Amino acid sequence: VLGWFYVFPAYRLPSDKEIVEEVLGLGEAWKKNQTGIDLYRNLLTECCNPRWMFSVTKENAPIGKVLWYDGEYYYSHTVNNETYSIFVQTTPLKPLKKCAVVGNGGILRHSKCGRDIDQADFVMRCNLPPLTKEYLADVGNKTHLVTANPSIIEKRFQGLLWSRKAFVDYLKAYGSSFIYMPAFSMRPGTDPSLRAYYAIADSPSNLTMLFANPDFLRNVGKFWKARGVHAMRLSTGLFLVSLALGMCDEVTVYGFWPFSIGLDGQPISHHYYDNILPGKWFHAMPEEFVQLWHLHKSGTLRVKVGSCR
Ligand code: CDP
Repeated sequence: VLGWFYVFPAYRLPSDKEIVEEVLGLGEAWKKNQTGIDLYRNLLTECCNPRWMFSVTKENAPIGKVLWYDGEYYYSHTVNNETYSIFVQTTPLKPLKKCAVVGNGGILRHSKCGRDIDQADFVMRCNLPPLTKEYLADVGNKTHLVTANPSIIEKRFQGLLWSRKAFVDYLKAYGSSFIYMPAFSMRPGTDPSLRAYYAIADSPSNLTMLFANPDFLRNVGKFWKARGVHAMRLSTGLFLVSLALGMCDEVTVYGFWPFSIGLDGQPISHHYYDNILPGKWFHAMPEEFVQLWHLHKSGTLRVKVGSCR
């Protein structure tokens, strides 16, 4: 079957309407393709070694190791006693069976995908999303790994310079999951990330802080760039999908739909909880979606759009 990415040249992204038609055209049909899964696991292991390199650990970032920031030009942190002491010993990640990667797209609204998501063996979410009662049916409430952007710490929790209670209370929604922070990506992100670490460490929570390894982020960026994703920086969701493809037997992604209309042709909000749009030139989410759709069509992962019931 010829889809739009064969018909349209690479320099023109299909319009939102064309994407809807393509997705509706394929319908719910999906068949797992073990060859595709194995291929991507091997490609990602070769380039980026997700299981071992995803986060900084005492093993891959010993004292004296220079961590070059992936989001800055020529800026680094040399691991010292203080930073070394707060890294996990080794990778806490094990090979996994069924993984769900949950983006924050408005497509999740009224999807009733919560139960499907919660049934996965490993659920990954982006940017400390709200998991309150009103969203339970659509997004579920189980989390094994959630990313946190330092800018959220700054904006929503006063950089943790004052009370840490609101932050620690908010994190209760994520149970005993991993919190994944890009502490060594952009210069202003380091201090808030370290403060977030101490806020968690000093509270009775069961959360584990993992700091993103800038080498991993850089390599994953190159991997997708070679496949046509031209952005300043990949979206958080695609980093997690890359981890999942490297570690999980089966990957289903939810909430990835960076378009202005839904499958019914009606306008749709950017997030399932608000409609704050991202900075225009920073990410290339529609290009990323094209890649995901490619993988969906080849049976390598499953892109869930539309309703789960
Ligand atoms: O911080 P960022 O803009 O990357 O992410 P977000 O808005 O918190 O959403 C989390 C992830 O969901 C993004 O990184 C995208 O991969 C995905 N997403 C999407 O595909 N479509 C949307 N409308 C919104 C988010």
